[in-house]
Amino acid sequence: MVAFSKPLAAAALFAGLASAQSFQRLGTCPDLGCIIPPDQADFLAGQRFDIRLEIHAPVNGTEATGNPNPDENFEFTIERVGGNRGKQAGSKWFKVPEPKLEKWSFGWYEDFFARDAKTPSMVNVASKAYRKVHLDEAGEYRATLKYDGKTTTATWTVRSLEEVRKTRNVLFFIGDGMTTNMITAARLIGHKSVNGKYQTKMAMDSFPVLGHAMTHSVDTFMTDSANSATALYTGHKSTVNALGVYVDSSPDVFDDPKIESIAEIFHRVYRGHVGIVSTAGVWDATPAALTAHTRDRGEYPYCVDSLLRGTNNTAWIDWNGPDVLFGGGAEHFYSPALGGKTFNKKDYYEEFAKAGYNVYWNKTSLAAAPNTERALGIFTVSHMSKWLDRNVYKKNLKDQANHPSGNKGDAQDEPGLKEMTLKAIDILYQRSKADKRHSSQGWFLMSEAAQIDKMMHALDYDRALGELLELDDTIKASIAKLKELGELSNTLIVVTADHGHGFDVMGSVDTKYMDAQKDDRKKRNAIGVYQFSGKSQYINNGEVSYSEGFPTNWTPRYSLFAGIAASPDRRENYKVNQNGVREVTTNTPGRPANDFYANAKDTPGGFVINGTLPTDEPVGVHSLTDVPVFAMGPCQELFGGVQNNIDIFFNIANCLGLSRTAHGKGQDPIGN
Ligand SMILES: *[C@@H]1O[C@H](CO)[C@@H](O)[C@H](O)[C@H]1NC(C)=O
Ligand SMILES: *[C@@H]1O[C@H](CO)[C@@H](O)[C@H](O)[C@H]1NC(C)=O
Ligand SMILES: *[C@@H]1O[C@H](CO)[C@@H](O)[C@H](O)[C@H]1NC(C)=O
Ligand SMILES: *[C@@H]1O[C@H](CO)[C@@H](O)[C@H](O)[C@H]1NC(C)=O
Ligand SMILES: [Zn+2]
Repeated sequence: MVAFSKPLAAAALFAGLASAQSFQRLGTCPDLGCIIPPDQADFLAGQRFDIRLEIHAPVNGTEATGNPNPDENFEFTIERVGGNRGKQAGSKWFKVPEPKLEKWSFGWYEDFFARDAKTPSMVNVASKAYRKVHLDEAGEYRATLKYDGKTTTATWTVRSLEEVRKTRNVLFFIGDGMTTNMITAARLIGHKSVNGKYQTKMAMDSFPVLGHAMTHSVDTFMTDSANSATALYTGHKSTVNALGVYVDSSPDVFDDPKIESIAEIFHRVYRGHVGIVSTAGVWDATPAALTAHTRDRGEYPYCVDSLLRGTNNTAWIDWNGPDVLFGGGAEHFYSPALGGKTFNKKDYYEEFAKAGYNVYWNKTSLAAAPNTERALGIFTVSHMSKWLDRNVYKKNLKDQANHPSGNKGDAQDEPGLKEMTLKAIDILYQRSKADKRHSSQGWFLMSEAAQIDKMMHALDYDRALGELLELDDTIKASIAKLKELGELSNTLIVVTADHGHGFDVMGSVDTKYMDAQKDDRKKRNAIGVYQFSGKSQYINNGEVSYSEGFPTNWTPRYSLFAGIAASPDRRENYKVNQNGVREVTTNTPGRPANDFYANAKDTPGGFVINGTLPTDEPVGVHSLTDVPVFAMGPCQELFGGVQNNIDIFFNIANCLGLSRTAHGKGQDPIGN
């Protein structure tokens, strides 16, 4: 027993540190010397990135050492394991001037008790940042930081990838928040089954390769769309809310260490043509992560500027704007004179027009747009209208004051994901074909069904599944379009999600029986599980009213008994809300402010389901589940099996031949 006393004391000393969980001093930095990118980071050969070094001197709290002054004479070295350059100082290795010393302080809460008591632990920091460096040779690198007589090391890996381009084009679909469970439910309501046999299938069902991807963040096991998009586009996992950067501890949200994205690398290596399409505001995390570099995804005006000019911060990245940018989010484009909230108070329709873009505000003008010119299509204020409202409950498009001009009228002529994606393919195809440099031919298009996620947050499952079926319809139409253009065999198509929600279907609900019951407990007996679940009633006999692959009846008597693993307190009636998106929350009379109650008004006949989330969480939240990865085309085989979300970046980059070592310039079978 005595023999254990010393290790135990040491363990107790670090107990405060090890317990940092809900809050962390800095997620990528377990000790007091921080190297970012952190230990275990993987890189594409030639990928541009920043290095941030931080020395932390805790002033108070459980980590305080009695010395509040960070070592300002820290030393940073790099070596390639087994390489012949030996160990060199960072500035010598990268042939850059020694960065200047920066200093700041920050506070963090050690746990929820400290948060409630508002007693942050304070930390003084000394730091340096190396900007826009790259590692060109495959292999393992050791980064070492020596400070205060201590050492932090990070092992970095530059993946060894063939420098051969295997695909001309990449069509990358992201179903935001989409899980296998949702795809199963969408198939059930959108496709007819006879005696247990589906008569039609989802387009996703036809993909030859299926994998699973893990979605966790660099420092938490739950993710949001910002850092998961960063993982998918850069091959580096980051922190919740961060776009294209690792998070540092400095107060400036624009100086965090950046990582070059697939769009930026594709542009740098080939001057390749890039398209970005989303049903969200184009400044939202998934589209913006292709060009934005900030730890705060809420910097929407900056995100818009980054889409046009790349990162503004000392022109870190060579970027010339996408060929195509389609989505919502007009409030960060139109002039502040009309109420727009824009970067540096400029009119971003004008900024894009000055850079050679034609600007489109509706489906009709988009369809007529020349395929040879750069196109900006912004079709609504905020996120775009949902498939269900655009196609079934059209009255809900009225009185939205969401016209993209900012004139407070309604956007009544919105394209859907399908129209935007097909037009984007046409433009990318034409423009890349016309490119004089052969190697510049080919394109990368990211198309996001953004509102699967947004509608799942709102617990509006009908709208979420409508968005998913629209994505599937878009995939089907895109495959047909590529075939027509003769580009299908030259195009890697990947369909995946950035994270999931804990949604599933457990049976059916007899809504007539439920309506007839008076008390909440009896209403639950309207739910039919197992043999009482019956068949899907969302497809009537053979009739097709919208197009194949969508329900013909959104208000069947027997609806889906669907639910989500964790939610706020809410009401549920298992019926589609015909009056628009379900109201997310209301403050309940007699309850404290910020104590939310969801879907209170738009669930007549329903009952109360008490939630399990923290009482100030107004909407449903993301879940841990792995997400599906579907692949078709060149390199499809790389995407099978269980993988990490960063592997999707490396596989796409590999297929495009974007890995560039110091020796080869890479081969481009498509160019010559
Ligand atoms: C640390 O010091 C700051 C004042 O500098 C104080 O506000 C904070 O409550 C202290 N934190 C702890 C954990 O004692
Ligand atoms: C970008 O540059 C402009 C002018 O050079 C400056 O006003 C602005 O603050 C910069 N923004 C960022 C995010 O660095
Ligand atoms: C669509 O936009 C064009 C201008 O780009 C405009 O002339 C036309 O009236 C708009 N159509 C609708 C239905 O709003
Ligand atoms: C829900 O929780 C509230 C307390 O927050 C309680 O008064 C009510 O009875 C619960 N309702 C159900 C249906 O469990
Ligand atoms: Zn979400």
